[in-house]
Amino acid sequence: MTLEPNLLSLIHKSPIFPPFPDIQKNAEVKNFEEYEHLYESSIHHEEAFWLEQAKTLDWMRFPSKGLEYNWSKDEVWHRFFSDGELNVSFNAIDRHVRNGKKDKPALIWQAEDESEHRTLTFGQLKEEVERFANVLKKHGVKKGDRIAIYMPMVLEQAVAMLASARIGAIHSVVFGGFSSESLSYRLKDADCKLIVTSNVAKRGGKIIPLKEMVDKALLEPCSCQKVIVFRRDERLTPMVAGRDLWYHEEMASVSPICPPEPLNAEDPLFILYTSGSTGKPKGALHTQGGYLLHASLSHRLYFDIKENDVYWCTADLGWITGHSYVVYGPLANGTTTLLFEGTPTFPDPAIFWRVINKHQVTKFYTAPTVIRSLMKEGASLINPDLLKSLKLLGTVGEPINPEAWIWYYDNIGQNKCPVIDTWWQTETGGIMIAPLPGCHSLKPGSASYPFFGIKPGIYDEEGELCVHTGGGLYIEKPWPGIMRTLWGDHKKFIETYFSKKVGAYFTGDGSIQDEAGCYWLLGRMDDVVNISGHRIGTAEVESALVSHVAVAESAVVSKPHEIKGELLLAYVILVNGFLPSKELEEQLKQHIKNEIGAIAVPDTIKFVSSLPKTRSGKIMRRLLRCIARGELDKMGDLTTLADPNAIEELTKDN
Ligand code: WT7
Repeated sequence: MTLEPNLLSLIHKSPIFPPFPDIQKNAEVKNFEEYEHLYESSIHHEEAFWLEQAKTLDWMRFPSKGLEYNWSKDEVWHRFFSDGELNVSFNAIDRHVRNGKKDKPALIWQAEDESEHRTLTFGQLKEEVERFANVLKKHGVKKGDRIAIYMPMVLEQAVAMLASARIGAIHSVVFGGFSSESLSYRLKDADCKLIVTSNVAKRGGKIIPLKEMVDKALLEPCSCQKVIVFRRDERLTPMVAGRDLWYHEEMASVSPICPPEPLNAEDPLFILYTSGSTGKPKGALHTQGGYLLHASLSHRLYFDIKENDVYWCTADLGWITGHSYVVYGPLANGTTTLLFEGTPTFPDPAIFWRVINKHQVTKFYTAPTVIRSLMKEGASLINPDLLKSLKLLGTVGEPINPEAWIWYYDNIGQNKCPVIDTWWQTETGGIMIAPLPGCHSLKPGSASYPFFGIKPGIYDEEGELCVHTGGGLYIEKPWPGIMRTLWGDHKKFIETYFSKKVGAYFTGDGSIQDEAGCYWLLGRMDDVVNISGHRIGTAEVESALVSHVAVAESAVVSKPHEIKGELLLAYVILVNGFLPSKELEEQLKQHIKNEIGAIAVPDTIKFVSSLPKTRSGKIMRRLLRCIARGELDKMGDLTTLADPNAIEELTKDN
């Protein structure tokens, strides 16, 4: 890959922030030598390393096996702790109750309305989860059955996830911002038996009728037979007799005792859909033991977790970050974890800082897009008195530009908190590359060193190692949290992640390693874009566009954006008889909102009469990207272009 010259100079000139001595003193991994020693043993003696780490979980049957795998040309599988038995909800709740933490806050829910919050202690969470597990059982949900969760950021969403885990069901959480079409696709793909939702969601001062979206999704035939409706407020919603049930009524009708089901470490825990380079999202499947170990160990070490921490990760539970670092990781560590219903800028851009002060948050984990949008509002809005409780900051979701990193460090961390830039993916289950606060120096813009058991490799298109010149990032060995397959499509799993280089997992990201061994993540190399930290496949948007009667063909590309990271631009060829207009552009945007959700709506739709294609008919997105970005000088080789006039039309109003 060709690297921007300014990126190379950034890598060479990056400032370095050594670890803070007070953090280092009390950290579990205290210096670079200790990290190196542990890292080496995690790579070369993985069996012993992971079986030792597995002791941090509570097992019903302790495993005798660590990692087993085969990553060959036609067969790909990997297992961790395959003869072990445990229960994830027991690890997240019961064991802390047994260890004297019954009255410790487990979850704090902060409503969008600042004056309202609610806390569940580990003891209270246990009862809620057991009751909801009984509700699921009452409606015929059994081990291995899939349930969907389509809810706002409320405690009951976490309760539903943990209850599903308690009985060995498989949850598929669908982000509340997705449309009923998206929900319907996910319900059908995983054959969900039941869905948990809410009458409404409150976000950014708006009321979103979630239950009505569910009703719409269920107009399509599927196997979902019951809808459990949490009442977020008093608003009524039409209830279908025999199908729809109120959460509070169901909870009152069951026993508060539901023993945790012993599950094999490799039984599925959840499916989470994510976008790739194909038209439809794919369901990443995660299992019990390895996933929980990865989530809890990485949470404990990267956030330097101590008994009295109040930890806040701002991610929605609909994304993997919400799964691993709002619910499973923190709770498995017995940490108080905060769930915020609202958004970063409502009612004003100082809301996060007031929430930090109100709950005395010590560890704070958010996305670069949030940092950039708050940065734009200006540091004058920040009252340092509100931030005194903070000890450590984290970021995730996309590359963080050094300016945003420094701003976060100076203004939010007040120069006393390390900023932990964590690189990972839905597929990886947990953090893969990030600085450990007790032993790694920080470099703004670099996610630094790999986590234990993670063996990265950087290769060029020919499969040659090219760590210091930049290339595709691969991981050359399974780690505990890696997805096991794509739901219902193991062939696609192999094709997508293991076919570029036999014996290695392809991340889809570009990367380069500096002389000190730190990794710099350079963004996606495939047709996946990252908008405000959310992953969108351009093919998905294209397929939504062509499903509109007026659209004959489309190509969607991204261009950089100051706050969102990237934004989408769609090129559309209309069906004969339709004419370009502002109204049609709005109609198409609305159509994408209905088909996928608001996050996938392109910023601009350009109507064109042709698209740049190769002679074999493949759209040359590389050229469109250059045109969209105004980088005509970077278009390179145009000899494969079938019709050079296509370029002329596209560039004329650039
Ligand atoms: C993609 C994964 C991991 C949870 C949130 C997103 C990008 C993520 C970083 C980072 C550079 C990052 C990558 C990755 N990404 N974190 N710290 N630095 N890039 O999960 O939706 O599965 O997206 O997000 O491109 O492949 P996701």
